[in-house]
Amino acid sequence: MTTRVVVGMQWGDEGKGKIVDILTSQADIVARYQGGANAGHTVVVGEQKFILHLIPSGILHPEKVCVIGNGVVIDLEYFFTEIDALKKRGINPEGRIWISQSAHLVMPYHKTMEAYEEEKRKDKIGTTLRGIGPAYQDKIARAGIRISDLWDKKIFEAKVKENLKSKQNVLKNSKENLSTAQIVKKVLSFKTKIKNYVRDTSLFLNQALKQNKNLLLEGAQGTLLDIDFGTYPFGTSSNTTVGGACTGLGIPPQAIDEVIGVAKAYSTRVGNGPFPTELSNSLGSFLRQKGDEFGATTSRPRRCGWLDLVVLKYATRINGVDELAITKLDVLDNLDEIKVCTGYKYKNEILDEFPQDQNLFEKCKPVYQTLPGWKTATQSITRIEKLPLNARRYLDYIQENTEAKIFLISTGCRREDTIFLD
Ligand code: GDP
Ligand code: IMO
Ligand code: MG
Repeated sequence: MTTRVVVGMQWGDEGKGKIVDILTSQADIVARYQGGANAGHTVVVGEQKFILHLIPSGILHPEKVCVIGNGVVIDLEYFFTEIDALKKRGINPEGRIWISQSAHLVMPYHKTMEAYEEEKRKDKIGTTLRGIGPAYQDKIARAGIRISDLWDKKIFEAKVKENLKSKQNVLKNSKENLSTAQIVKKVLSFKTKIKNYVRDTSLFLNQALKQNKNLLLEGAQGTLLDIDFGTYPFGTSSNTTVGGACTGLGIPPQAIDEVIGVAKAYSTRVGNGPFPTELSNSLGSFLRQKGDEFGATTSRPRRCGWLDLVVLKYATRINGVDELAITKLDVLDNLDEIKVCTGYKYKNEILDEFPQDQNLFEKCKPVYQTLPGWKTATQSITRIEKLPLNARRYLDYIQENTEAKIFLISTGCRREDTIFLD
């Protein structure tokens, strides 16, 4: 019996979807614990590419059970769009996805509010506009509406009314100003369908733990987008780091046996905020093209840059990462030399730990170590011995500087393009 958590170690899009899909073969249940439809997790199976937003990346294994925990914020319209799209492609999720009754709903007005607030902001976050921030805002303000509120129309209607009243100042500026009745009708139209998916998922997972089942817990976004430990305010509104797995699923910390950190062999970021190793030049464009770095949720071009080991070391510490999965090694194949950031220069100081003061972090300049490239194709290599020596040196360098052990190297987007280490 093993419970493993998969967390992103950078700014999201590290390839968590591919890693979760691979590790699902060793799990009984795959559970998402935070975020919402802001996530875009890509899984490539044979010739088919799936992009999952709310549904756990374990769903493509027909016999496995998936859970969406209380820590996730759920837009019912997106949920059923995703379910229907899977069904159309021959995947049957019926009877094997369970949603927490305590999960908060992303309501139509959350997206309206977010569009308005983003527009108004001086320092734009560049969010996915999926209503995530406003939904978590309501949760924390104790004004949120949860899945279990759907069961009683009177209670649901009263909560919608109260919410619309308190948000009038913002909502009155919107073109799409839905009435209480319209919102109630729209959201309640999913009530009968969603009922079949809902249960006490914390109880279900704790019972599974007692029965010695293997759990795989899927994080969304990445450590540097975490609401507490990320590049605040430029991040998302949930705890993307390992603690989110306990609070977002209702399982105790002792249940976690292993933390797997997923990191790309270079860095990317979509949205605004500090990114010391960003390459705003032809090399950055090269990485974007070769790595196909365009958002899986919003199609926005991702900002690209060199690997930042200060970030990886920090993510290892915050999450207690035991094992590392390094993805997209193949994207670096053609480079003469590869830089890695080993510290930050701030005024006359060299920092080798990630600073908590974000006003200071914005002013940090990267200090680089240059490593030789390997100028050999690594795409689809499945055995470590087949990797060019300089690629192995690059991986060793990452391992030494993060103090976590690499257990998996990804050399392409398909399941088969994977090297497993002992
Ligand atoms: P996630 O949000 O962490 O699941 O990552 P995304 O799915 O948003 O982005 C990762 C992208 O890289 C997807 O398009 C994957 O298909 C792709 N990918 C994953 N691993 C590899 C790899 O090793 N090499 C290459 N070239 N692409 C990869
Ligand atoms: P996955 O799970 C990359 C970014 C947005 C924005 C910030 C806040 O695919 O790795 P939000 O809509 O969450 O309020 O946006 O966070 N962001 C992501 N970036 N991958 C993601 O998810 C992201 N989810 C949110 O671009 O900068
Ligand atoms: Mg993604």
